[in-house]
Amino acid sequence: MNDMRMSPNLALNQLVAQRQAAGEPLIHLGFGESRLPPFAPLMERLAAGAKRNAYGPVAGTPGVRAAVAGYFSRRGVPTGADQIVVAPGSKPLLMALGHVVPGDVLLPRPAWNTYAPQARLVGKHPIAVAIPEECGGVPDPRSLRESITAARVLGRDPRIMVLTLPDNPTGTLAPPALIRELCAIAQEEGLLIVSDEIYRDVVHDPATEFLSPAEVAPEITVTATGLSKSLALGGWRIGAARFPQGPWGEWIRSGVVSVASEIWSTLAQPMQEVAEYAFGEPEEIRDRLRASARLHGAVAREVHRIAVGAGATCRPPTGAFYVYPDFEPVRGELAKYGVSDSPTLARRMLDLGIVVLAGHLLGDEGEALRFKCATSMLYGDTVEEQQLALDAADPVALPHIRLLLDRIEDGFQRLVP
Ligand SMILES: Cc1ncc(COP(=O)(O)O)c(C=O)c1O
Repeated sequence: MNDMRMSPNLALNQLVAQRQAAGEPLIHLGFGESRLPPFAPLMERLAAGAKRNAYGPVAGTPGVRAAVAGYFSRRGVPTGADQIVVAPGSKPLLMALGHVVPGDVLLPRPAWNTYAPQARLVGKHPIAVAIPEECGGVPDPRSLRESITAARVLGRDPRIMVLTLPDNPTGTLAPPALIRELCAIAQEEGLLIVSDEIYRDVVHDPATEFLSPAEVAPEITVTATGLSKSLALGGWRIGAARFPQGPWGEWIRSGVVSVASEIWSTLAQPMQEVAEYAFGEPEEIRDRLRASARLHGAVAREVHRIAVGAGATCRPPTGAFYVYPDFEPVRGELAKYGVSDSPTLARRMLDLGIVVLAGHLLGDEGEALRFKCATSMLYGDTVEEQQLALDAADPVALPHIRLLLDRIEDGFQRLVP
């Protein structure tokens, strides 16, 4: 039981709330929540859905499943409503998938901090594979082949590969050529691809090409998505998964539905009302998605500039709302302050008033000088400030955002004075 800890980002979030309540002026970059108000039409749908008090089908009503199928079909992945399951968040869907599909799990290193604990909870071995130079969210293809071989020699049974597109924690999107290469390896090695696309609509530049493994290898790809990030609805808990067509996909889907039926029964009906509307993507939702993605990009790029200015190397962010600096170039100077690894680096950032999520908590090497900054908590404390941020042509010039960015810049500069 001693091994059963709370997810580190949620635990950190609670600790920060306590310390802020006690008056400490901390800047919180340790939690991947989109700090934006709920969009008014979504609240209207939620209110309208309150009258829906029956349980309904486990996988979701035909209406909501058709809406999610339409969402995928418009993104180049033809999908029928019978391939969709909705749930209270994508987290339980990923967990259910782990229950159903046998074998160990290949994960990018670093990766979102929930994949490995979920794997362990269902008796799987997480196998961490280094990410490429250019982006995170995917294993480096050559390292992937080596890791599969090495794992099999050790008696492991890698059968699932998780990709995060775009990625938490690096804030980058893997390019199409890499996706094709990884799909080919998955086909050769008999892997199921789990494509976590919860940040898909948070690609900063609308011209960026997004290739889903579901387009390249549809027969072996399960896709997870949700509204927590793109529409800032984390607390509403709306997730969805798309399963492959054909007998194998159907076997996985019905297994997930069976797990769902024993744990959460179905997505709350008022949330299904919201999801049907949002995944239907009327014009106002598309506008909202574009405005949010633009804001996330502008602020993430600014934090990237600050990190690089403080001596880090860092992949330029292209999606989601994270940057993942690496302070290896200034290891010598950091040693003077007792910083020699991921925990001591995160500790020093905290002493400088900035809360970050240490890289080792994301499965990264403990001795590496890396951490994650979630940049989506910087949009303001009030709905008015957050709305201003969404509407601004140049959000990083808004005084309430600039103030925080300047404090962050000051803290980063004092890391290696
Ligand atoms: C990569 C990734 N996948 C999935 C989730 C879970 O989202 P939810 O359960 O809110 O759908 C998160 C949230 O932090 C995430 O970062």
